[in-house]
Amino acid sequence: MTLVFFRTAICCVLFVGFWGAPVAAGVDREKLLTDPGVYGSFAVFALDDQWGKIDSSVRIARLATLKGVVEQHREHVAIDLYLLRGLSDHADVLFRIHAMELHHIQAFLLDLKSSQFGRHLKTAGIMHGLTKKPTYVPGFSEQMKADLMSSNEVGQKPYVIVIPVKKSAEWWGLDREKQATMMQEHTVAALPYLKTVKRKLYHSTGLDDIDFITYFETSKLEDFHQLVLSLEKVKEFQYVRRIGHPTLLGVLQSVDEVIESLAQ
Ligand code: HEM
Repeated sequence: MTLVFFRTAICCVLFVGFWGAPVAAGVDREKLLTDPGVYGSFAVFALDDQWGKIDSSVRIARLATLKGVVEQHREHVAIDLYLLRGLSDHADVLFRIHAMELHHIQAFLLDLKSSQFGRHLKTAGIMHGLTKKPTYVPGFSEQMKADLMSSNEVGQKPYVIVIPVKKSAEWWGLDREKQATMMQEHTVAALPYLKTVKRKLYHSTGLDDIDFITYFETSKLEDFHQLVLSLEKVKEFQYVRRIGHPTLLGVLQSVDEVIESLAQ
Protein backbone atom coordinates (compact mmCIF):
# COMPACT_ATOMS: atom_id res chain seq x y z
CA MET A 1 0.00 0.00 0.00
CA THR A 2 2.73 2.44 1.06
CA LEU A 3 4.77 1.35 -1.92
CA VAL A 4 1.90 1.97 -4.34
CA PHE A 5 1.35 5.42 -2.85
CA PHE A 6 5.07 6.04 -3.00
CA ARG A 7 5.35 5.11 -6.70
CA THR A 8 2.30 7.18 -7.62
CA ALA A 9 3.57 10.16 -5.65
CA ILE A 10 7.00 10.02 -7.25
CA CYS A 11 5.56 9.55 -10.76
CA CYS A 12 3.27 12.57 -10.41
CA VAL A 13 6.13 14.78 -9.34
CA LEU A 14 8.33 13.59 -12.21
CA PHE A 15 5.79 13.61 -15.01
CA VAL A 16 5.40 17.38 -14.94
CA GLY A 17 9.13 17.94 -14.49
CA PHE A 18 10.07 18.72 -10.96
CA TRP A 19 10.75 22.42 -11.38
CA GLY A 20 7.88 22.88 -13.80
CA ALA A 21 10.53 23.57 -16.46
CA PRO A 22 11.25 21.51 -19.55
CA VAL A 23 13.75 18.78 -18.79
CA ALA A 24 17.17 19.61 -20.28
CA ALA A 25 18.81 17.34 -22.82
CA GLY A 26 21.30 15.08 -21.11
CA VAL A 27 25.09 15.09 -21.47
CA ASP A 28 26.72 12.49 -23.66
CA ARG A 29 27.02 9.99 -20.85
CA GLU A 30 28.90 7.39 -22.89
CA LYS A 31 31.56 9.96 -23.81
CA LEU A 32 31.95 11.19 -20.24
CA LEU A 33 32.38 7.63 -19.02
CA THR A 34 35.00 6.69 -21.62
CA ASP A 35 36.93 9.85 -22.58
CA PRO A 36 40.14 11.01 -20.92
CA GLY A 37 40.15 14.51 -19.42
CA VAL A 38 36.88 14.05 -17.53
CA TYR A 39 36.44 14.85 -13.84
CA GLY A 40 35.03 12.12 -11.62
CA SER A 41 33.91 12.92 -8.09
CA PHE A 42 32.78 10.45 -5.46
CA ALA A 43 30.49 11.97 -2.84
CA VAL A 44 29.47 9.82 0.12
CA PHE A 45 26.60 10.72 2.42
CA ALA A 46 24.90 9.41 5.55
CA LEU A 47 21.29 10.22 6.37
CA ASP A 48 20.83 12.20 9.58
CA ASP A 49 19.02 10.90 12.66
CA GLN A 50 15.87 12.85 11.76
CA TRP A 51 15.33 10.83 8.58
CA GLY A 52 14.02 7.72 10.29
CA LYS A 53 11.72 9.78 12.52
CA ILE A 54 9.81 11.73 9.90
CA ASP A 55 6.51 10.55 8.50
CA SER A 56 6.86 8.26 5.46
CA SER A 57 4.77 10.55 3.22
CA VAL A 58 7.12 13.44 4.07
CA ARG A 59 10.10 11.18 3.37
CA ILE A 60 8.67 10.33 -0.04
CA ALA A 61 8.07 13.99 -0.89
CA ARG A 62 11.62 14.86 0.17
CA LEU A 63 13.07 12.00 -1.88
CA ALA A 64 11.29 13.36 -4.94
CA THR A 65 13.51 16.44 -4.67
CA LEU A 66 16.52 14.15 -5.20
CA LYS A 67 15.15 13.13 -8.58
CA GLY A 68 14.43 16.78 -9.32
CA VAL A 69 18.02 17.85 -8.68
CA VAL A 70 19.40 14.97 -10.76
CA GLU A 71 17.13 15.98 -13.67
CA GLN A 72 18.05 19.63 -13.29
CA HIS A 73 21.76 18.92 -13.78
CA ARG A 74 21.47 16.34 -16.56
CA GLU A 75 22.80 18.84 -19.09
CA HIS A 76 26.28 18.94 -17.57
CA VAL A 77 26.84 15.91 -15.36
CA ALA A 78 26.45 12.14 -15.56
CA ILE A 79 25.36 10.76 -12.21
CA ASP A 80 25.56 7.21 -10.92
CA LEU A 81 24.06 6.22 -7.62
CA TYR A 82 25.02 3.42 -5.25
CA LEU A 83 23.30 2.21 -2.15
CA LEU A 84 25.79 1.70 0.68
CA ARG A 85 23.17 1.43 3.41
CA GLY A 86 23.25 -1.98 5.04
CA LEU A 87 26.77 -2.68 3.77
CA SER A 88 28.55 0.32 5.25
CA ASP A 89 28.70 1.43 8.86
CA HIS A 90 29.29 5.07 8.08
CA ALA A 91 27.36 5.96 4.95
CA ASP A 92 24.08 5.34 3.12
CA VAL A 93 24.55 6.54 -0.40
CA LEU A 94 27.35 7.22 -2.88
CA PHE A 95 27.14 9.53 -5.88
CA ARG A 96 29.67 9.12 -8.71
CA ILE A 97 29.52 12.24 -10.82
CA HIS A 98 31.32 12.85 -14.12
CA ALA A 99 31.64 16.23 -15.86
CA MET A 100 33.95 18.12 -18.18
CA GLU A 101 34.30 20.85 -15.53
CA LEU A 102 34.58 20.37 -11.80
CA HIS A 103 32.38 23.40 -11.15
CA HIS A 104 29.45 21.56 -12.78
CA ILE A 105 29.90 18.82 -10.19
CA GLN A 106 30.09 21.45 -7.45
CA ALA A 107 26.86 23.07 -8.72
CA PHE A 108 25.09 19.70 -8.58
CA LEU A 109 26.32 18.95 -5.06
CA LEU A 110 25.35 22.42 -3.81
CA ASP A 111 21.82 22.02 -5.17
CA LEU A 112 21.62 18.52 -3.80
CA LYS A 113 22.66 19.67 -0.32
CA SER A 114 20.18 22.54 -0.29
CA SER A 115 17.26 20.39 -1.52
CA GLN A 116 14.70 19.13 0.99
CA PHE A 117 16.23 15.67 0.75
CA GLY A 118 19.80 16.97 0.85
CA ARG A 119 19.21 18.72 4.15
CA HIS A 120 19.10 15.27 5.70
CA LEU A 121 22.48 14.30 4.23
CA LYS A 122 25.64 14.42 6.28
CA THR A 123 28.76 14.38 4.12
CA ALA A 124 30.89 11.36 4.95
CA GLY A 125 33.54 12.12 2.32
CA ILE A 126 34.21 13.55 -1.12
CA MET A 127 37.03 12.49 -3.47
CA HIS A 128 37.95 13.99 -6.83
CA GLY A 129 39.86 12.55 -9.75
CA LEU A 130 40.48 12.98 -13.44
CA THR A 131 40.45 10.35 -16.19
CA LYS A 132 43.58 10.21 -18.33
CA LYS A 133 44.96 8.30 -21.28
CA PRO A 134 46.80 5.19 -20.03
CA THR A 135 50.39 5.95 -18.99
CA TYR A 136 51.90 2.47 -19.25
CA VAL A 137 49.62 0.45 -21.54
CA PRO A 138 51.03 1.98 -24.80
CA GLY A 139 54.38 0.33 -23.96
CA PHE A 140 52.87 -3.13 -23.31
CA SER A 141 53.04 -5.99 -25.84
CA GLU A 142 50.32 -6.19 -28.48
CA GLN A 143 49.06 -9.39 -26.82
CA MET A 144 48.66 -7.67 -23.44
CA LYS A 145 46.93 -4.71 -25.05
CA ALA A 146 44.52 -7.11 -26.76
CA ASP A 147 43.92 -8.98 -23.49
CA LEU A 148 43.14 -5.70 -21.75
CA MET A 149 40.65 -4.83 -24.47
CA SER A 150 38.98 -8.25 -24.39
CA SER A 151 35.35 -7.88 -23.57
CA ASN A 152 34.19 -8.59 -20.08
CA GLU A 153 31.66 -11.24 -19.20
CA VAL A 154 28.29 -9.81 -20.09
CA GLY A 155 25.52 -9.39 -17.56
CA GLN A 156 24.89 -7.29 -14.52
CA LYS A 157 27.71 -6.40 -12.17
CA PRO A 158 25.75 -5.07 -9.25
CA TYR A 159 28.51 -4.63 -6.68
CA VAL A 160 30.68 -1.57 -6.71
CA ILE A 161 33.93 -1.13 -4.85
CA VAL A 162 35.78 2.18 -4.65
CA ILE A 163 39.30 2.21 -3.26
CA PRO A 164 41.46 5.32 -2.92
CA VAL A 165 45.18 4.69 -3.38
CA LYS A 166 48.23 6.75 -2.48
CA LYS A 167 51.75 5.84 -3.55
CA SER A 168 55.02 6.73 -1.81
CA ALA A 169 57.40 9.54 -2.73
CA GLU A 170 59.84 6.77 -3.62
CA TRP A 171 57.50 5.52 -6.36
CA TRP A 172 57.20 8.95 -7.93
CA GLY A 173 61.00 9.28 -7.86
CA LEU A 174 61.61 6.03 -9.81
CA ASP A 175 62.50 6.25 -13.48
CA ARG A 176 59.73 5.50 -15.94
CA GLU A 177 61.21 2.20 -17.07
CA LYS A 178 61.16 0.73 -13.55
CA GLN A 179 57.62 1.96 -13.00
CA ALA A 180 56.56 0.45 -16.34
CA THR A 181 58.08 -2.95 -15.50
CA MET A 182 56.20 -3.03 -12.19
CA MET A 183 52.93 -1.89 -13.75
CA GLN A 184 53.34 -4.68 -16.27
CA GLU A 185 53.60 -7.17 -13.38
CA HIS A 186 50.50 -5.57 -11.84
CA THR A 187 48.65 -6.08 -15.11
CA VAL A 188 49.79 -9.69 -15.57
CA ALA A 189 48.57 -10.51 -12.05
CA ALA A 190 45.25 -8.73 -12.60
CA LEU A 191 44.37 -9.84 -16.15
CA PRO A 192 42.79 -13.21 -15.20
CA TYR A 193 40.17 -11.27 -13.23
CA LEU A 194 39.14 -9.00 -16.06
CA LYS A 195 36.43 -11.52 -17.01
CA THR A 196 34.42 -10.73 -13.92
CA VAL A 197 35.76 -7.37 -12.75
CA LYS A 198 35.21 -4.12 -14.64
CA ARG A 199 37.63 -1.32 -13.73
CA LYS A 200 38.10 2.41 -14.06
CA LEU A 201 40.98 4.58 -12.90
CA TYR A 202 40.93 8.23 -11.80
CA HIS A 203 44.07 10.30 -11.15
CA SER A 204 43.86 12.51 -8.06
CA THR A 205 47.38 13.78 -7.37
CA GLY A 206 47.16 17.50 -6.57
CA LEU A 207 43.35 17.45 -6.61
CA ASP A 208 43.01 15.42 -3.44
CA ASP A 209 45.13 13.88 -0.67
CA ILE A 210 45.32 10.64 -2.62
CA ASP A 211 46.95 9.76 -5.96
CA PHE A 212 44.27 7.53 -7.48
CA ILE A 213 40.66 6.54 -7.09
CA THR A 214 40.14 2.98 -8.30
CA TYR A 215 36.59 1.96 -9.19
CA PHE A 216 35.36 -1.59 -9.80
CA GLU A 217 32.10 -3.31 -10.71
CA THR A 218 31.60 -7.04 -10.25
CA SER A 219 29.00 -9.67 -9.56
CA LYS A 220 31.67 -11.91 -8.03
CA LEU A 221 33.03 -10.41 -4.85
CA GLU A 222 35.12 -13.50 -4.20
CA ASP A 223 37.00 -12.89 -7.47
CA PHE A 224 37.59 -9.32 -6.41
CA HIS A 225 38.95 -10.47 -3.07
CA GLN A 226 41.36 -12.86 -4.88
CA LEU A 227 42.35 -10.12 -7.30
CA VAL A 228 43.44 -7.79 -4.49
CA LEU A 229 45.34 -10.62 -2.80
CA SER A 230 47.17 -11.26 -6.10
CA LEU A 231 48.03 -7.59 -6.52
CA GLU A 232 49.36 -7.36 -2.98
CA LYS A 233 52.02 -9.90 -3.99
CA VAL A 234 53.51 -7.86 -6.83
CA LYS A 235 56.48 -5.54 -6.26
CA GLU A 236 54.53 -2.41 -7.17
CA PHE A 237 52.37 -2.90 -4.08
CA GLN A 238 55.39 -2.16 -1.87
CA TYR A 239 55.10 1.45 -3.03
CA VAL A 240 51.44 1.76 -2.01
CA ARG A 241 51.15 3.91 1.11
CA ARG A 242 47.39 3.98 1.43
CA ILE A 243 44.81 1.60 0.06
CA GLY A 244 41.22 2.22 1.09
CA HIS A 245 40.39 4.26 4.21
CA PRO A 246 37.70 4.16 3.21
CA THR A 247 36.99 1.21 0.96
CA LEU A 248 33.44 1.77 -0.25
CA LEU A 249 31.26 -1.23 -1.04
CA GLY A 250 27.79 -0.72 -2.41
CA VAL A 251 25.22 -1.77 -4.95
CA LEU A 252 24.57 0.05 -8.20
CA GLN A 253 20.98 1.32 -8.31
CA SER A 254 18.89 3.62 -10.47
CA VAL A 255 17.72 6.87 -8.88
CA ASP A 256 14.25 5.33 -8.55
CA GLU A 257 15.62 2.26 -6.80
CA VAL A 258 17.65 4.36 -4.36
CA ILE A 259 14.57 6.47 -3.68
CA GLU A 260 12.54 3.33 -3.04
CA SER A 261 15.22 1.90 -0.72
CA LEU A 262 15.57 5.09 1.29
CA ALA A 263 11.81 5.66 1.53
CA GLN A 264 11.49 2.58 3.73
C1 HEM B 1 40.69 -6.33 -13.42
C2 HEM B 1 41.74 -6.10 -12.69
C3 HEM B 1 42.78 -5.04 -13.00
C4 HEM B 1 43.44 -4.83 -14.17
C5 HEM B 1 43.31 -5.59 -15.47
C6 HEM B 1 44.34 -3.72 -13.93
C7 HEM B 1 45.18 -3.17 -14.88
C8 HEM B 1 45.85 -1.98 -14.75
C9 HEM B 1 46.61 -1.34 -15.78
C10 HEM B 1 46.78 -1.84 -17.21
C11 HEM B 1 47.11 -0.19 -15.27
C12 HEM B 1 47.99 0.83 -15.99
C13 HEM B 1 47.13 1.92 -16.60
C14 HEM B 1 48.04 2.92 -17.34
O1 HEM B 1 48.65 2.55 -18.35
O2 HEM B 1 48.06 4.08 -16.90
C15 HEM B 1 46.65 -0.11 -13.90
C16 HEM B 1 46.91 0.93 -13.05
C17 HEM B 1 46.54 0.96 -11.73
N1 HEM B 1 45.85 0.00 -11.06
FE1 HEM B 1 45.15 -1.71 -11.80
N2 HEM B 1 44.22 -3.30 -12.64
C18 HEM B 1 43.28 -4.08 -12.02
C19 HEM B 1 42.88 -4.02 -10.72
C20 HEM B 1 43.37 -3.14 -9.79
C21 HEM B 1 43.05 -3.15 -8.38
C22 HEM B 1 42.14 -4.18 -7.68
C23 HEM B 1 43.69 -2.09 -7.83
C24 HEM B 1 43.74 -1.63 -6.40
C25 HEM B 1 42.78 -1.82 -5.53
C26 HEM B 1 44.40 -1.42 -8.88
C27 HEM B 1 45.12 -0.27 -8.73
C28 HEM B 1 45.73 0.41 -9.75
C29 HEM B 1 46.36 1.70 -9.60
C30 HEM B 1 46.44 2.53 -8.32
C31 HEM B 1 46.87 2.05 -10.84
C32 HEM B 1 47.65 3.31 -11.19
C33 HEM B 1 49.09 3.06 -10.88
C34 HEM B 1 50.03 4.13 -11.36
O3 HEM B 1 49.76 4.77 -12.39
O4 HEM B 1 51.06 4.31 -10.70
N3 HEM B 1 44.20 -2.10 -10.04
N4 HEM B 1 45.91 -1.22 -13.60
